[in-house]
Amino acid sequence: MHILGLSGSLRAGSHNTALLRAAASVAPAGMAIELYDGLRELPPYDQDLDREDAPGPVADLRERVHAADGLLIATPEYNYGVPGVLKNAIDWASRPSSASCLLGKPVAIMGAAPGNFGTVRAQLALRQSFLWIDSRIVTKPELALFRSHERFDANGELTDETTRTMLARLLDALAAKVREAHAPIPALAA
Ligand code: FNR
Repeated sequence: MHILGLSGSLRAGSHNTALLRAAASVAPAGMAIELYDGLRELPPYDQDLDREDAPGPVADLRERVHAADGLLIATPEYNYGVPGVLKNAIDWASRPSSASCLLGKPVAIMGAAPGNFGTVRAQLALRQSFLWIDSRIVTKPELALFRSHERFDANGELTDETTRTMLARLLDALAAKVREAHAPIPALAA
């Protein structure tokens, strides 16, 4: 099972990127998590450029999402919302809406913030986008990592055991969504 991890933060010391790295270390047997690192290369969404020969980084994003069995997104919260760079990637990946690489794709969302609310508002906004996009969103468990600066050591390793357990549970739920997506559709009764 191949999962593509997207962090909505570009900064080197990002707690969200560190959370994604930690996910790779607690993933269930048979799940591999690869980190997408092309966010910075994506141009701002422009419908005039959204043609068959879309810009290279866009085509690469779409191919990688398409090839993945599911997505794991770690979003920071910027001004109670989703960081622009992450929303921009999702906007590119969501087109054309009737045949996008995100259509029916299993997606799990989580987020980390040093404050007391752990990105709950950004996660809610992100979930709302996926309603229109029609991905298979994992609804439970929720992972809102608050006071994130207290959960990692100086090397960016997730040291908080409770968070590691919650992360493993979220990945189990994502794996279940992937299996559901791959399950054959039962034949309709005659
Ligand atoms: C923030 N931060 C923030 N935190 C929060 O809990 N709610 C918010 O609305 C905001 N808004 C906000 C806006 C902008 C522009 C910045 C740069 C920061 C703080 C944010 O949670 C913190 O910087 C995180 O550490 C960002 O995530 P990474 O980069 O550690 O993954």
